[in-house]
Amino acid sequence: MRGTGNYLNQSHQPILLFLHMLLFNPPIGVRKMLIFFLCFNLSLTINAQQPTWVEEAPGVWKTIIGKPDAFDLLKAAEVPARLDGLEKLSASGFPLEKTDIKAEVIHGQTHLRFPLEREEQLFGFGLNFKTVHQRGNILRLHVDHYGGRDNGRTHAPVPFYVSSLGYGVFINAARYMDIYAGTGSRRDSPNAPEPRDRNTDDQWSARPYSDAVEVLIPTGGVEVYLFEGPTPLDAVRRYNLFTGGGPLPPRWGLGFVQRVPRLFSEEDVMQEVKDFENRGFPLDVVGLEPGWQSKSYPNTFVWDPGRFPDPEGFISTLKGKGVRVNLWVNPYISPDSPLYEKLFPYTASHTVWAGIVPDFTMDEVIAPYWGFFEKEHVKIGVSGYKVDEVDGYDQWLWPDVAKFPSGISAEQMRQTYGLLVQKQSAAIFHRRNQRTFGLVRASNGGGTSFPYVLYNDYYNHRDFITALINSGYAGVLWTPEARASKTAEEWLRRMQTVVFSPMAMINAWASGTKPWSFPEVEEEVKAMAMLRMQMMPYWYSEFAKYHFEGTPPFRGMNLETGFSFGTQKLTMSDSEADLETNPYAEVVKKEIKDQYMAGESLLVAPMFEGEEERKVILPEGKWYDFYTGEMVGEGEEITVRPGLSNIPVFVKDGGIIPMTTPSLHTSGAGEKYDLIIRHYGKKEGSYFLYDDDGETFDYEKGDYSWRELKVVHGEDGRLQGTVSHPESGKPDYLGKISWEFMSP
Ligand code: GAL
Repeated sequence: MRGTGNYLNQSHQPILLFLHMLLFNPPIGVRKMLIFFLCFNLSLTINAQQPTWVEEAPGVWKTIIGKPDAFDLLKAAEVPARLDGLEKLSASGFPLEKTDIKAEVIHGQTHLRFPLEREEQLFGFGLNFKTVHQRGNILRLHVDHYGGRDNGRTHAPVPFYVSSLGYGVFINAARYMDIYAGTGSRRDSPNAPEPRDRNTDDQWSARPYSDAVEVLIPTGGVEVYLFEGPTPLDAVRRYNLFTGGGPLPPRWGLGFVQRVPRLFSEEDVMQEVKDFENRGFPLDVVGLEPGWQSKSYPNTFVWDPGRFPDPEGFISTLKGKGVRVNLWVNPYISPDSPLYEKLFPYTASHTVWAGIVPDFTMDEVIAPYWGFFEKEHVKIGVSGYKVDEVDGYDQWLWPDVAKFPSGISAEQMRQTYGLLVQKQSAAIFHRRNQRTFGLVRASNGGGTSFPYVLYNDYYNHRDFITALINSGYAGVLWTPEARASKTAEEWLRRMQTVVFSPMAMINAWASGTKPWSFPEVEEEVKAMAMLRMQMMPYWYSEFAKYHFEGTPPFRGMNLETGFSFGTQKLTMSDSEADLETNPYAEVVKKEIKDQYMAGESLLVAPMFEGEEERKVILPEGKWYDFYTGEMVGEGEEITVRPGLSNIPVFVKDGGIIPMTTPSLHTSGAGEKYDLIIRHYGKKEGSYFLYDDDGETFDYEKGDYSWRELKVVHGEDGRLQGTVSHPESGKPDYLGKISWEFMSP
């Protein structure tokens, strides 16, 4: 890593020279000037800081610049770090040259500067939809509904980035902050770009190299965290563990979810559930949309007596069929809600859809509001929520001039509202020792551990996959939900990606689409949905690894070791550009944003409508076809033509995928299940299978087991597998165990 001189000395050199000159013959007027300059220089010196770093947790370094706001992202989320997980990661030392990190508070705003090496790549800055590589981007991180451009306005604008050199940076402020991810160049930079003559130099570029990430936060101080690697994935793990580790969903949360049309009644839902059963489609959760309530937008949060005359009976009948109920809400309270009068004094100056906006930082709100949800919904069996519209759009939400009774600013509230609703609703379930897994439309830094998956109203299939990749850099989960499609092909392609995502969901709130809505592909969709269910032991173990070890279950290829493709091209020369249409040629990015890793050993390469073949980039080592076990390539780019019925999925050499028998519902609390263990390739391998009761928080008291599935070469040279016993006193949910060696 490079070293530089002192930031302050460099920036003030001209002033000091001037003073030095004047010292030899100071006339009276100049003497006054001298005093002024000295004071000016002194005040700048006081404002500017050379950050001092303390190791806050293993491999996690913190500094405090200026005077941070009293309320920030981590205070909103209020989740303790998973120290046990952090302690297990190997230390690699402070990852940057400390003197290269600069911080200054100027005019009440905080300026930060982090160094960049020439070839360094950047990932993160929240849930982006079109770009994975962030170097060269300018973003204003602002919670909002995604509007089609990666400009920082998104559902989870997490101020965290990870570098290809193996470290991460997190800025803990609930503010709209400006990120210059390698765009500006300082005059005094030791690594400034060389000027080039556009008249003669073909290598002239409109985007000269920049050696820093610079951040402007509109407040007089911030906390900054730096995460050690050594690999980029380790830095991500540390961020995730520091913010509590990923959520461990109940097993049913990873099953199939169908959200029904918004005005469906009890009978309509019952009929739909019956149809799923009769047609043999798996179903674990039904999601009710706004019309379960007597009034919505703004909401009463009260069951509609016409559509749902007996909510408790309805929920328990469904539960008997192995199906849970999830309720849509947005937080805004109708004048007809029993909560209205009591909460009125603790709501914002502005309304949303004419509903009052609760100040979720106030105890006066938290207890009655969520207490009502607990009594009216959770106690009678509701399994979770979909918390909508806590993100944007601007025209709908409160404006930044709004006031909240707690004194928290409208901007800070906007940045943290999604965190607050997740934390407070999840707490209802935690105190009942019952796990939940729901949906939310906004989150932010610090929200890693909340049992919620992000979604939105945008519907570009390719961009949904890029978002899935970026979720793995941002400590959030994302579902590429299927809603409707114009063709059977599109429907099948979308359903295939839903199955390889954190939440396998159809959101038919407007369309009424069913998994079988396109008869031409009904069987293919069913086979995919069943595959999701068969892979449950794998999904469940991978989420446990997110929880205990911080490894994102869905993540970008650039986090894989041995993945040498996908380097970002930062500049474009005049000869490459079309000067007629683009005289300041933009950066061209060669980035991998349409294939991703699902769990420890699967590479998923989705097909999109209209495609018959696609290219897949395989990291180092041999890779095998998930369906057939055949070797497909080794550290190379391959072209695949999978046909309509399959989504291309590949397994690492030695990869072990624990599966189970097909079923329409996930196994219930503590129920035994049969294990079918697949092994791919020729290499020996080992996999850790996680188990617990699947529904309660008893795992927090140690009621869980990790069992090693191991494949080694026997004396006859053939591969053979063993499964370790759980440690004594730990639960055992395994029934029959069988092995499938997929690549004999
Ligand atoms: C939208 C949401 C949809 C659906 C709808 C119901 O805001 O994104 O998924 O829930 O509201 O009104």
